[in-house]
Order: sequence, then structure tokens, then C-alpha cells
Amino acid sequence: MDKWVVSAFLVLGGALVVFLLIYQNPKQEETLLTSGDGLAIYSQTCAACHGERGEGRRELGNPLRGRALPPNYIKEVIRRGRNRMPALPHIQGEALENVARYVNRLP
Ligand code: HEC
Repeated sequence: MDKWVVSAFLVLGGALVVFLLIYQNPKQEETLLTSGDGLAIYSQTCAACHGERGEGRRELGNPLRGRALPPNYIKEVIRRGRNRMPALPHIQGEALENVARYVNRLP
């Protein structure tokens, strides 16, 4: 009988761990970001789709460099998303300002 109790705990414990791995990790990736250097935020969040230097990555993200896009427009796209670009509403405040300014000035 004891064996069954132990097994039941192991199964429930395992299920709990799997549940936490699946449901906690994506949330941690979207931790609220309110400060930080524009380049650092860009490299972490945007470069995967738009390229390390804003050169674009084919169908993943269009080029941003050399376009001097208005910071207010960039902030709006980050907040709300645009077509295939997901909204990134966890970037806020100073972090949003800094990354928008960085993208605006990409050489
Ligand atoms: C998952 C990929 C992905 C990520 C991450 C991403 N973007 Fe985008 N972004 C796109 C795509 C795709 C488009 C083109 C959307 C469209 O078709 O209008 C786009 C469009 C844009 C535009 C509009 C460009 C234009 O031509 O009008 C801006 C500005 C922009 N992204 C900035 C950013 C910034 C800044 C970040 C990081 C905070 C970021 N993106 C993160 C995929 C991404």
C-alpha cells in the first residue's frame, strides 16, 4: 500500500514540475522592462527578427536601418504590434524610449 502512496506523490510531483516548466517560463521571458540601454534591448528583443544591425532578416523582419523612422511610430509598433510583428507591451517607460531612439538612429 505504501508503494502506491509514494508512486502517486511522484506522479503528481512530476506533473507539477512539467506544468511549472510549461506555464512559468514564457511569463518570465516577458518580465516588465522599464529601463535599460537601447542597444542592449534591441540586441535582446529585436535583433532576432530585424538583424543585429537592423539590416532585416528576410521574412522574419524588415530592415530598420537608415530609415530614421519617427520614435513615436516605433513606440506604437512595439506597443501594439503590426501584421506579423507581435506586440511587445512589456517594454515600457525609459526602456521603450531608449530602444525607439536607438532604432531611429540606426546608421
Ligand atoms: C518576431 C519577430 C519580430 C520581433 C521580435 C520584432 N519585430 Fe519588428 N517587425 C517584424 C515584422 C515581421 C515586421 C513587419 C510588419 C509588417 O508587415 O508591417 C516588423 C515591423 C517593425 C517596424 C515597422 C517598420 C516599417 O517598415 O514600418 C518597426 C519600427 C519595428 N518592427 C521595430 C521593432 C523593434 C524596435 C523591436 C524590438 C523591441 C521589434 N521590432 C521586434 C518582426 C519582429
